[in-house]
Amino acid sequence: MNVHAPALAEPHRFDDAMSAFAGDVIGDLSKFPKKLSPKYFYDAKGSELFEQITVLPEYYPTRTELAILRERGGEIAGLIPQGAALVEFGAGATTKVRLLLERSRFAAYVPVDISGDFLNAQADGLRRDFPALDVHPVAADFTAPFALPAAVAGMPKVGFFPGSTLGNFEPQEAEAFLLSARKILGRGAQLILGVDLEKDERTLYDAYNDAAGVTARFNLNVLERINRELGGNFDLSGFIHRSVYNRDRHRIEMHLISRKAQRVRVLGHHFSFRPGESIHTENSYKYSLDRFTTLAQTSGWQVKESWTDEGRMFSVHALVASAE
Ligand code: AVJ
Repeated sequence: MNVHAPALAEPHRFDDAMSAFAGDVIGDLSKFPKKLSPKYFYDAKGSELFEQITVLPEYYPTRTELAILRERGGEIAGLIPQGAALVEFGAGATTKVRLLLERSRFAAYVPVDISGDFLNAQADGLRRDFPALDVHPVAADFTAPFALPAAVAGMPKVGFFPGSTLGNFEPQEAEAFLLSARKILGRGAQLILGVDLEKDERTLYDAYNDAAGVTARFNLNVLERINRELGGNFDLSGFIHRSVYNRDRHRIEMHLISRKAQRVRVLGHHFSFRPGESIHTENSYKYSLDRFTTLAQTSGWQVKESWTDEGRMFSVHALVASAE
């Protein structure tokens, strides 16, 4: 299937990132069940909606992780050798990484993210506030192998992967990511990781079905993005947001459900929906401490410390690379 040819006939700018988006969307909507990758939620509007989600009363992960990082910052700092390089996989708001940078004497900070513009804006702010820190942004997709800047080659490495972004990966993808992180960070590396925990269904359900409807807007925004960037003609009022907890698979699933029989066109491709048919837009896996420990061990890491809040809602782990 050539997704480029019809696209060129459309009055849209077309670059590599956009043809990857186009290819994924056409491929994933052609499957049954239909799906879309959660990585496409985060255009400018989606990132803004996600920031709103992080302060919702029902959305406990962000504030709980921040509380753990604040409370345990001293202990975390105690594990980190002086002069280390902190490598952050994915770079959102700098609130969390600042908690680590304030307490430990890192020589360098390497934020890795696909969005180069965003990275550079953040890097400037950190350089201003931490003048002794060498900031080396890397514009790369961190789910694939990438090279660290030569400037940090001789430094001990500490990876940072907060926010339970690991939860978006399928179990085998989570394993592949951890193995790849160990390879990138090298011998003797450490990894500080935030992981959301399995808990009662009501709490999980509410966190992904907030009363103000922000999560619904976040979910629907991916269709708006397809309309805007790929010239799609999704009628947003024809879909409803649904999040359910799949206990057997330990994951929250987000879906967009078609309210009626309808046909949608994207880049010259037509997609038919039956009433009630779903587009599966996200999985957010929840771990038990045991299942996470096992995952780490089978992926080249040992759990050195695990911290949780009093309510056992969220966890932060310090991992050490296993000997080769
Ligand atoms: C950024 C993937 C951790 O799974 O909780 C929030 C994304 N989706 N509400 C999560 C999200 C709906 C979030 N992660």
